Amino acid sequence: MTKRAFITGIGGQDGWYLAQILNEKGYEVHGLTRRPLDDEVIGDGVPASDRLAAHLHFGDLTDSSNIARLVREIAPDEVYNLGAQSRVAASFHAPLYTASVDGLGTLRVLEAIRLSGLVDRTRFYQASTAELFGKVSQSPQSETTPFYPRSPYAAAKLFSYWTTVNYREAYGMFACNGVLFNHDSPRRGKEFVTRKITSGMARISVGLQRSLSLGNLDAKRDWGHAADYVRMQWLMLQRDAPADYVIATGEQHSVRDFVTWAAAALGIEIRFFGSGVDEHGIAAHVVGEAAAHVKQGDILIRVDPRFFRPTDVVDLVGDPGRALNELGWSPLVTARDMCAEMVASDLAVARRDARHIPSEG
Ligand code: GDD
Repeated sequence: MTKRAFITGIGGQDGWYLAQILNEKGYEVHGLTRRPLDDEVIGDGVPASDRLAAHLHFGDLTDSSNIARLVREIAPDEVYNLGAQSRVAASFHAPLYTASVDGLGTLRVLEAIRLSGLVDRTRFYQASTAELFGKVSQSPQSETTPFYPRSPYAAAKLFSYWTTVNYREAYGMFACNGVLFNHDSPRRGKEFVTRKITSGMARISVGLQRSLSLGNLDAKRDWGHAADYVRMQWLMLQRDAPADYVIATGEQHSVRDFVTWAAAALGIEIRFFGSGVDEHGIAAHVVGEAAAHVKQGDILIRVDPRFFRPTDVVDLVGDPGRALNELGWSPLVTARDMCAEMVASDLAVARRDARHIPSEG
């Protein structure tokens, strides 16, 4: 029997990687997306071989009746609730919308499963987040570390985490949380710091941009590759019994480290001077193609307080021991290799953009 999966947020980074895996496994994939539907394929702008077959359904997680109808009609074997307002900084500007999508949205999906009589059939995965640990009380963070959310985003995700646990305990539903640490890829949006850095540095290296402004360079994250993390999302739903798992690499790096790696991948050695808003990243040594546009002593990185958050999360690192012991999962791609992959992808785009700029004269 062909298995049916329903992915909310199929148009996002994780939705794409997960749909790819489920396609390979022979699932019939359905996805909820806020984007216009022009065909039954996602992955626009990528080679045809990378395209995915999926039935796309228009809508979003604020619309209870649409969710209820779709769940009833699709009657999925597995639901992956990846849809979210996922930008932490934006959640401070749109806290009510964020609460509706990231908090109540999960409840809407769970209620749709329950009221459709699918509790015994449908397995449910909730995209929980390391942001739940927030102001961390221990390091590394594991399945038993207390939560301390530091943003409207994290507070809404806290509601979803516990609602998922409650549906498991109250109704015996196969419902579980993946508590995912940051996971990125060339498909990451440019509003997240990794992609902002790889795209910005690639543009600097071809002369499209002179410098890049960032916020808190001291923030530390445990970065993994999205392709690795969606593998674990699927594995969680194949277990005999539902449980919650931390998904992380166990390694921690700062935003400053990530900038240094991205620059190095482009032949630029960056050194940082000063502190706080007066910190600068300066080109100390440049080789290769970038040397045509970047000179020693150029200021490439500036700190702009506009990118600070009212309350930030600065010290995340996960303990993926349970995922390894119980599911045999461990990440294949290191943060630095992922950075190099993202730089290579953004450099190809930047070179193309640079060719389209008419030369002087
Ligand atoms: N976005 C952004 N832009 N972040 C910056 C910048 C900047 O210019 N400068 C420094 N940072 C810092 C942020 O303050 C934060 O501490 C860190 O870089 C990472 O920010 P993001 O890449 O925006 O991701 P995030 O950690 O806030 O949230 C992501 O990961 C979570 C899982 O840990 C998102 O994907 C969330 O949806 C996800 O739950």
